[in-house]
Amino acid sequence: MGSTRKFRVWRGDENGGDLQDFQVEVNEGEVVLDVIHRLQATQTPDLACRWNCKAGKCGSCSMEINGMPKLGCMTRMSTFTEDETVTITPLRTFPVIRDLVTDVSYNYEKARETPAFAPPAGVAPGDYRMQQVDVERSQEFRKCIECFLCQNTCHVVRDHEENKPEFSGPRYFIRAAELDMHPLDAKTDRKEYAQASMGMGYCNITKCCTEVCPEHIKITDNAIIPMKERVIDRKFDPLVWLGRKILRRDQLNGQGQGLDAPSGKPAGVTGHAKGVGPTSARLPEPPDLQEDGKLALTEITFDRPAAPSPFGEDVSFPMRGTSYVHPDRQRETSPEDEGTQAH
Ligand code: SF4
Ligand code: SF4
Ligand code: FES
Repeated sequence: MGSTRKFRVWRGDENGGDLQDFQVEVNEGEVVLDVIHRLQATQTPDLACRWNCKAGKCGSCSMEINGMPKLGCMTRMSTFTEDETVTITPLRTFPVIRDLVTDVSYNYEKARETPAFAPPAGVAPGDYRMQQVDVERSQEFRKCIECFLCQNTCHVVRDHEENKPEFSGPRYFIRAAELDMHPLDAKTDRKEYAQASMGMGYCNITKCCTEVCPEHIKITDNAIIPMKERVIDRKFDPLVWLGRKILRRDQLNGQGQGLDAPSGKPAGVTGHAKGVGPTSARLPEPPDLQEDGKLALTEITFDRPAAPSPFGEDVSFPMRGTSYVHPDRQRETSPEDEGTQAH
C-alpha cells in the first residue's frame, strides 16, 4: 500500500547548491532509486542521478542516504519509518558535477597508477595455470563492483583533498592484496609498494570502508591488515635478521632455496611461476639496514601525518558499537539513542 513520504534531495553543481524538499508517493517493496525515478518522472525531470543495473552490480548509483554511503538501488524504503525525512546527498569525497552525480575520476587515476598483473616471462596467456585454492583465496576481492563507497567513506581523503595524490584508497589496497596472493604474479613487492607508493601508511584501520562495502568484502581484516603485518614482519622479524647474519649473500639470493638457474626464470619470479613451493617453504627476506647498521623505522612511522578522524579528536578506541555513524548524524543524536545507531 502506498504512502506519501518526505524526501530532501541536494540539488546543485560545482558552484554550489542546497537541499530541496519533496513529498513523493512510495509503494511497498520500492528502493530509494525507485523514488528518485518517480521524482524525475513527476516533479523534477532535470534531477541528475547516475544508475545502470538497478541490481547492485554496476556500482553506479552510489549516494549518501541520511549521511550513510549506500547504493540507491539496494536501499529499501522499508528501512525508514513512515514519518522519517530521507535525505539524499552526493558522495562527499568527489567533486559534484550536478545534483547526485559526482566526478569519480580520482579512482580511475588511482587504478591507472596501480601496477598491473605481471605475468611470468615465457608463459603465454592461455597457458596460465592456477590451483583452485589460489583462485578462492582472492575471490572475495574480485567481487568488487567499483561503487567507490569505500573510497568515499575513508577519512584519509573524505575531507582532505591534499591527501589524494599520495593515497590510493581501500579499493586499490584490495587490488594490491589480490595480486599479492596471485601465484603467477611476477611482481613480488606488492605490499611494500602499497606501503611506500600507495599510501597504505595513512590507513589507521578504522574499518569504515569495510562497513559500507555492499559486497561485504572484508577490506580491512583480509587485505589491509595482513599486508601491513607482512611488511612489518619482513622488516623486523628477528629470525630474518639472524638469517642475514648467518647466511652468505648467494644463499639469501636463492641458491639455497632452489630459486635460481635451474628454473631459467627471470629474477623476481616466485612461487608456482618459478616452479617452487609456497612462500612458507622459502627463506624470509632480510631487512634493510641503515648506514649506521640499525633497522630503519620508516615502515612504522610514516613520514607524513594521517588525516584527523572525522569523529573528532576526543574519540577513544575501540569505538562504541564499532559502526559507521556519519559525524553530522552523531552530533544530532542524543546519548540515549546512540546504542541504536549501529548499521
Ligand atoms: S580502514 Fe579506515 S583508514 Fe583504512 S582504508 Fe579503510 S576507511 Fe580508510
Ligand atoms: S571494495 Fe566494496 S565498497 Fe569498495 S568499490 Fe569495491 S564493492 Fe565498492
Ligand atoms: S544501479 Fe547498478 S548498483 Fe545501483
